[in-house]
Amino acid sequence: MSKSFYVTTPIYYVNDVPHIGHAYTTIAADVIARFNRLKGNKVYFLTGTDEHGQKIERTAEANGEKPIELANRVVKRFQDLSNVLNITNDDFIRTTEERHRIAVEEIFKRVEAAGDIYLSEYEGWYDVREEAFITDTQYEEIQSMPEEKRPVIEKVKEESYFFRLSKYQEPLLRHYKENPEFVKPAYRLNEVVKFVEGGLKDLSVSRTTFNWGIPVPGNPKHVIYVWFDALTNYITGVGFPTDEKMFEDNWPADIHLVGKDILRFHAVYWPAFLMSADLALPKTVFAHGWWTVEGEKMSKSLGNVVDPYQVVDEFGADVFRYFLLREIPFGQDGDYSKSAIIARVNGELANGLGNLVSRTLGMVEKYFDASVPEPAALTADDEAIREKAFSTVEIFEKDMDEVEFNKALVALWDYIADVNKYVDDSAPWTLAKENNAKRLAAVLWTIAQAIGVVTILIYPFMPEAASKIWSRLGSSDSLSSMTLSNAKEWGLVQAGQKVEKGESIFPRFDQK
Ligand code: MSP
Repeated sequence: MSKSFYVTTPIYYVNDVPHIGHAYTTIAADVIARFNRLKGNKVYFLTGTDEHGQKIERTAEANGEKPIELANRVVKRFQDLSNVLNITNDDFIRTTEERHRIAVEEIFKRVEAAGDIYLSEYEGWYDVREEAFITDTQYEEIQSMPEEKRPVIEKVKEESYFFRLSKYQEPLLRHYKENPEFVKPAYRLNEVVKFVEGGLKDLSVSRTTFNWGIPVPGNPKHVIYVWFDALTNYITGVGFPTDEKMFEDNWPADIHLVGKDILRFHAVYWPAFLMSADLALPKTVFAHGWWTVEGEKMSKSLGNVVDPYQVVDEFGADVFRYFLLREIPFGQDGDYSKSAIIARVNGELANGLGNLVSRTLGMVEKYFDASVPEPAALTADDEAIREKAFSTVEIFEKDMDEVEFNKALVALWDYIADVNKYVDDSAPWTLAKENNAKRLAAVLWTIAQAIGVVTILIYPFMPEAASKIWSRLGSSDSLSSMTLSNAKEWGLVQAGQKVEKGESIFPRFDQK
């Protein structure tokens, strides 16, 4: 069997409920997964939660509960969110599961057997919020920050196991050079290379001053460093080390999606651990940007944290999915605001796509008793709409393969605008008045084909709306069985299919 396309999200800390940042990565991963299924690829899609570490232990303590109680409570919010956002993950991993302990112990032992683990003492600073050991350069950077912006760091002095990260400086640099696809976007690769060129110190990979984690095999006084534990989820999730077949079918990952803040863990530490354990490296780590909210950094203290459940309540999952991926190039930072969502809904979804669908289906109802008409002769104008559909599918596919969601959507909406213009120019209402049934049939048939193509392409982004449009087109095959090659099959929407205009797919919102 061929290897699947394997896509992952970061696993989310359970010290806090989901916000827009979590929804963003998960939605992006889902669109990638759905698009790859559309291409006919076998897909494996993993998401989950990061439940160990000092931060979780402290949050639980502050709440007066056990860490596992906290995790059991909060994980539900993340799992429900998958349903609410129409996420099609194949599995949901929790790092407190037994299968994960087995995987972490195994990789730790392999790294140890490679001679890359030694016992020493860590003395330095630690950032509990980020669960990160602070390097000397970072420490200096922190000191030069204005006080109110400085992260809270704590002095740590304890016995610790170290991973020989320094040994991997050259192998990593070689890997980046030979595999420029390893980190995307390209400008992020430059940052990673610079960081590694700056020199790598060995990394502390265990802690002794708290308990909430996976014990070091053979020395349970230590718990394994939470990032060593967390990163391993990507292989636990595909059967490591117990299910060899599953592991072979899925590993290495094709793409790890991560926020820019956790790129270093994924592009430096993770590949070094994997090299040490003699496991294959993921093909791409893609770092996306961060959302601000109405121009401000999102934070609890500012009280401006965007709750994805609320956004879905107000606008629906499709609109939220579309907005996040259309608003900014994937990789760059963006600003979230309701008015920006509403502008996109009204302009692109209601006026652009919604209007095209409703007026076309309305005319088929009115002029052809709701049956898609049979075209006789097609003109050059009709052919142009077909040609443009084919080139749009190609551009869309290329952009999606490059993880350039917004470009793919721009190309698609450019096509929608062309089709709307074709409708205006062909003026079916005038053809009807003139009793030009032949021409009217050709035009409405052509628009129906165009809508069919658009529906297949928007499906990964807006599965609910696409399914609605698809069923209103009266197609008997299910939308989920369609592939990209069907989108190139002009004539997919067959003459005689019964259509239904129905209620508007994308209601407008008032900017006030
Ligand atoms: N548990 C680690 C990841 C381990 S992966 C092996 C973690 N968890 S997190 O819950 O804090 O963050 C998860 C993701 O949310 C990160 O990719 C982070 O970049 C993302 N975001 C957090 N705030 C964000 C925004 N304001 N905007 C976009 N993404 C943001 O880190």
